[in-house]
Parts: sequence; C-alpha cells; structure tokens
Amino acid sequence: MEVNSKKASESLIQMTELVLPNDTNVFGNLMGGRLMYWMDIAAALSAQKHANAPVVTASVDNISFEAPIKLGNAVYIHAKVTRAFTSSMEVHMEVWGEDLKNQHKYKSNEAYYTFVALNAEGKASPVPQLTPETEKEQRLYEGAIRRRQLRLILGGKMKPNDAAELKALFVNQS
Ligand SMILES: CC(C)(COP(=O)(O)OP(=O)(O)OC[C@H]1O[C@@H](n2cnc3c(N)ncnc32)[C@H](O)[C@@H]1OP(=O)(O)O)[C@@H](O)C(=O)NCCC(=O)NCCS
Repeated sequence: MEVNSKKASESLIQMTELVLPNDTNVFGNLMGGRLMYWMDIAAALSAQKHANAPVVTASVDNISFEAPIKLGNAVYIHAKVTRAFTSSMEVHMEVWGEDLKNQHKYKSNEAYYTFVALNAEGKASPVPQLTPETEKEQRLYEGAIRRRQLRLILGGKMKPNDAAELKALFVNQS
C-alpha cells in the first residue's frame, strides 16, 4: 500500500432510515428525491471519511429505481469510495428496502456519486489514494477510470478523443 493511501473499507458508511408518510408519493412509495437526498449524505460522509476534508458533490450518475420502497419499510444505504483520483473520489452505493414485519429484504438500486475535496479557500485539494482489498473492491476500482472518463465527457470536461481507457474498450488495439 502506498504511504499516502487508505483502504476502501475505511470509507464505509452504513445509513438506516425509516420511510414515514411525509417521505412518500401518492402510491405510498418512498419518493425518489428523498432517497437521493439520503444517498447524497451517505456518499458525502464516505468521501469525507476518505479525504478527511470537506467535499462537494461534483456529479451523480444515472440511477435506476429497480424496486419501490414502501411506507413503513426500513431503508439501508451502504456507501464506499471505489477510487480516488487527484481531488475527486467516486463513491459506490447500494440501497435496500426491508419489510421488517415480513422479514423481506430487497434491493432497490445502486449508484455512483463523485465528490471533490475542497481546501479552506474552496479550491479542489488532493486526497489520499485508495487501496482496494476484496475482489469486489478491485472490480469497482478498475471500472472507476472508465466511468470517470464517461462522466467527464458527458459533463463537457473531457474530449472523447482523450478518453484512452474508454476507447480501449471499443477499439481493437491489435
Ligand atoms: C466540482 C467542482 C469543485 C470542480 O471544480 P473545477 O473548477 O471544475 O475544478 P477542476 O477542473 O480543477 O476539477 C477538479 C476535480 O473535479 C472533477 N470534476 C469536475 N467536474 C466534474 C464532473 N462533472 N463530474 C465528475 N468530476 C468532475 C475533475 O475531474 C477534477 O478531479 P481530479 O482532481 O480528481 O482530476 C466545481 O465545479 C464546483 O464547486 N461545483 C459545485 C459543487 C456543488 O456545489 N455541489 C452541490 C450541488 S449544488
């Protein structure tokens, strides 16, 4: 492990919420916006644990809500940093709902959020590198470079021609 590096597991945040009437839409399901708010907090805490510095949300990747979470169910959000770049960090989240009465736990969605650490002047500031340990952490770490290039292209921050890792996926290099 590099000197200025932290383990992925050190950034784990586990948040639990309860879906109350004020959190739901007219169908009695958790509103997407409320869930994204909780996810933003969980992911920001995870990024701050890694950076030991305040962070801002730079981008949120697409989220597909696979299963609605019902009124009265518990919501579990697990957030962990997948990879750190210079000042930015990608955080992966998995979200489950649970009907506690019937002991039925179900996956709701997963998503990637990107955060940037800021210094006292509000400028982007370097963060420690991240060391993946488990097989899953390694897989997420390797994919993070491609997801970063894709979101920077979509955000107008990178030219498609400069996205070497993405191009390597599609162009036969032999
Ligand atoms: C995110 C922010 C700090 C980036 O500032 P910037 O001047 O573009 O800074 P830079 O170009 O030096 O980039 C800094 C880092 O941000 C990353 N970044 C910038 N835009 C990004 C985007 N759309 N998606 C993902 N990462 C992004 C860069 O890749 C860079 O990462 P790196 O240091 O690891 O290579 C700035 O745009 C900002 O403050 N945005 C508002 C954040 C905010 O208020 N969020 C709450 C929602 S309102």
